[in-house]
Amino acid sequence: MIGERREEDTVAFEIEGGVAWVKFNRPEKRNCMSPKLNRQMGRVLDELEFRDDVGVLVLTGEGASWSAGMDLKEYFRETEARGLGATRQAQREAYGWWRRLRWFQKPTIAMVNGWCFGGGYGPLFGCDLAFADEAAQFGLSEINWGILPGGGASKVASELLPFRKAMYHALMGENIDGRTAAEWGLVNEALPAAQLKARVSEVAQVLLKKNPVALKATKDAIRRVREMTYDNAEDYLIRAQEAANSFDGEGRKEGIRQFIDDKTYKPGLGAYDKDRQAG
Ligand code: COA
Repeated sequence: MIGERREEDTVAFEIEGGVAWVKFNRPEKRNCMSPKLNRQMGRVLDELEFRDDVGVLVLTGEGASWSAGMDLKEYFRETEARGLGATRQAQREAYGWWRRLRWFQKPTIAMVNGWCFGGGYGPLFGCDLAFADEAAQFGLSEINWGILPGGGASKVASELLPFRKAMYHALMGENIDGRTAAEWGLVNEALPAAQLKARVSEVAQVLLKKNPVALKATKDAIRRVREMTYDNAEDYLIRAQEAANSFDGEGRKEGIRQFIDDKTYKPGLGAYDKDRQAG
C-alpha cells in the first residue's frame, strides 16, 4: 500500500517523436479522477498544447485501467462534505479539462487500455479518436451506486450511441467490452492488447503528416456542425476555412501545387509534403 500520491504524480507523460503519451497515473485507485488528478491534468494540457514537439496527444492509463470514473471518496464524498462551493469547484476542475480536451489544439486519441467508467466518458468523448483493448470494460456504473450519469456522461452516451443502446447502457449498469464498444460507436476500433499501442502509434503518425492548421479546423468543424442546421453549418465552414487561411495561407496552395504542378502526390491517396514549401 503506497502512501497518498502527490498531486503532481497523478498524471504522467512522455513525448516521443511528436506524440505526447499522457497517462492517468493512479493505478492503485484504478485511475479514478480525484480533484488532484483533475487539477494536474489541466496543468499538463496547458504545458503540452502549444509545444512545437507535440503534434498529437494520446490519453491512456497506467496499469490495467483507463479510468474508473470519478473518485467516489475524494471527488464526491469529501468534496460534498465541504459544501456547495467546494462541489462546484471540483466540477469546474473536472469539466474544465474535458472541455479543454474537446477543443485541444492538437488531435487527441484515447487509448483505452482497461476499465472506463462513468465520468471517464467525459475525457473519452473529449478525445477526437478512440481505440480500445478488446477486453477493456466500459460502463455507466452510476445507476449501480444510485445516481444518474452526470458530468456529461449521459450526453456522451446520447451523442455516440443510438437511443435504445444509450438507454439500456445507462439504465442497466452492465458493462460492455471493447469489441462491443467499437460495434456501438463508443470507440473507433478494438484490438488485442498486444496490438493496441502499435495501432495508435500508426494513426498518430498519419496525423503528424497532415497540415496542423487544417487538423484543428477539421476537428472543430466536425464537433461544431453536429448542433447546426445545414445552412448554418455551410456558413460556419466557409468562415472557419477563411479563418484558417489567415493562420496558414500557404499550406493549401502548396497542397494544390504539389498535386497540379509537381505531380508528386495525389490528395485522394495521401497528404502533401508539408515540410516542402515552395520558396
Ligand atoms: N472511486 C474511488 N475509489 C476507487 C474507484 C472510484 N471510482 N475505483 C476504484 N477505487 C479504489 C478502490 O476503492 C480501491 O481502494 P483501496 O485499495 O484503498 O481499497 C482501489 O481503487 C482498487 O479498487 P478495487 O475495487 O479493489 O479494484 P478491482 O480491480 O477489484 O475493481 C473496478 C476495479 C473498477 C471494477 C472497481 O474498483 C469499481 O467498481 N470502481 C468504481 C467504478 C465506478 O463506479 N466509477 C464511476 C464513478 S462515476
